[in-house]
Amino acid sequence: MTLQTKIVTSSQGLRGEITVPGDKSISHRSIMFGALAHGKTHVTGFLQGEDNLSTLNAFQSMGVTIDQHSNGELTIHGCGLHGLQEPTDVLDCGNSGTTIRLMSGLLAGQSFFSVLTGDQYLRKRPMGRVVNPLAQMGAKISGREHGQCAPLAIQGRPLTAIDYTSPVASAQVKSAILLAGLYADGVTTVNEPHLSRDHSERMLRHFGVEVTSFLGGASVAGGQTLQAQDLLVPGDISSAAFFMVAALIVPNSELLIRNVGINPTRSGIIDILQAMNGSVELVDQREVAGEPVADILVKGSQLKGVEISGEFVPRAIDEFPVISIAAACAEGTTVFRDARELRVKETDRIAAMEAVLRVLGVSVESHEDGMTIEGCEQFSGGRVNSCGDHRIAMSSAIAALRAKDPITINDTGAGKSTLSRLLSERLNYINIDTGAMYRTVALAVDRAGIDLNDCCALDQLCQTLDIYFKRDDKIETIWLGDEDVSTLIRTPEMSLLTSRVAACQEVRLHVLQPVKRCVQRC
Ligand code: S3P
Repeated sequence: MTLQTKIVTSSQGLRGEITVPGDKSISHRSIMFGALAHGKTHVTGFLQGEDNLSTLNAFQSMGVTIDQHSNGELTIHGCGLHGLQEPTDVLDCGNSGTTIRLMSGLLAGQSFFSVLTGDQYLRKRPMGRVVNPLAQMGAKISGREHGQCAPLAIQGRPLTAIDYTSPVASAQVKSAILLAGLYADGVTTVNEPHLSRDHSERMLRHFGVEVTSFLGGASVAGGQTLQAQDLLVPGDISSAAFFMVAALIVPNSELLIRNVGINPTRSGIIDILQAMNGSVELVDQREVAGEPVADILVKGSQLKGVEISGEFVPRAIDEFPVISIAAACAEGTTVFRDARELRVKETDRIAAMEAVLRVLGVSVESHEDGMTIEGCEQFSGGRVNSCGDHRIAMSSAIAALRAKDPITINDTGAGKSTLSRLLSERLNYINIDTGAMYRTVALAVDRAGIDLNDCCALDQLCQTLDIYFKRDDKIETIWLGDEDVSTLIRTPEMSLLTSRVAACQEVRLHVLQPVKRCVQRC
């Protein structure tokens, strides 16, 4: 997909109050722990993004009832640690590393067989980091490339507790092992080089499980029962990060971002931007369902370069793409170190941001574990590639606020549309949601009863489809011919079918045509 940014910088700056979508990491865990608990867990603020829907679909496929209310809230009917059922099909984790890695731990201790897979990007990401420690606990997991890559086939069985030292600071690794630890005999301990995000530990405690946290790790004893609890998911600091940098780099801005999670294992972005001389203030700090929350007031500032390494890296790991835009607007040099993990995210984020910054005329040099960026006054425009990674796309969109010519962002479609929708609304960009387009094709395929292996029938159907978007008073809808299908395409059944439909070459080729038609209609 191509997203053509339309820039609306003004001397007035970005002013006002906003809220951001719910925290993605906490939303995943709300489904997982809610499903393993006894009783009903009611979730408010759940992020309805593609990644979280992958988790939701997977648990539904294992027999968990999840009521999705029209206001976006969820009720999860927990079935206890041993109440999940063997799924009848492969579980598709889409683009979501959190889904596949945490579920590997959870499924290792079940009494049934399951298979986890994902999209082309996820299938390239390293799974050995969870498979190896789980194997030490007695798990039976096989996968491509000697168990290092998905698909992963898991034959659940009884597990033994371990004391594991992880070579990487990763909440996905830590959480997978702690989840397996719930099924193990004895106390399972995970040690990590720097403390990674601790949402699993906090939520387990909220559900009544005894978890010990220490500097650089956590332990849990197996066999403990989770009791259902209501959950309020705070706004995602990783989404707020884009708006924080936007407000900092546009002079005269004053933006209040309400209700953002400021868990210290996630709030590295705040410390880093403050160290860069950014005016970032926490207002009305409070605690909600075991997680610290605040409003964040950001004012346009002249940033300066800094060095970022060590414990700051896991605390801001998802924010490096947008921090690199802040660095490119700062006075002086910024150096990132110890951030090798960025090379194995949804894409190699060091290489991707280096390429983006070069197109924008920034002087940048990458290292194996980071980057050195020289700040400049203004970016040039140009065509950048997001490599299908939403955080690269969003960071490039924020860069447009300081560019003298438009920036065109290619390949924004990894299915993560919530934030791009919000950004396009706020910044008045034109946003074409390819995820919604694939869902609409899936709806048409479902209605026509076409077999996905029948390439000719798929090809013929795609040629007849007229898919386009309409925007009316900030509400964007998607149409199939003269029918508004915006709600119809958002059911769990359509989510499942969409990932299979979007994998078909014929469909991918045809989605390009409606994109062009839709741009003409806008
Ligand atoms: C996440 C952990 C982090 C982060 C990812 C979400 C989680 O990954 O980058 O976006 O929800 O546990 P790692 O554990 O690989 O660092």
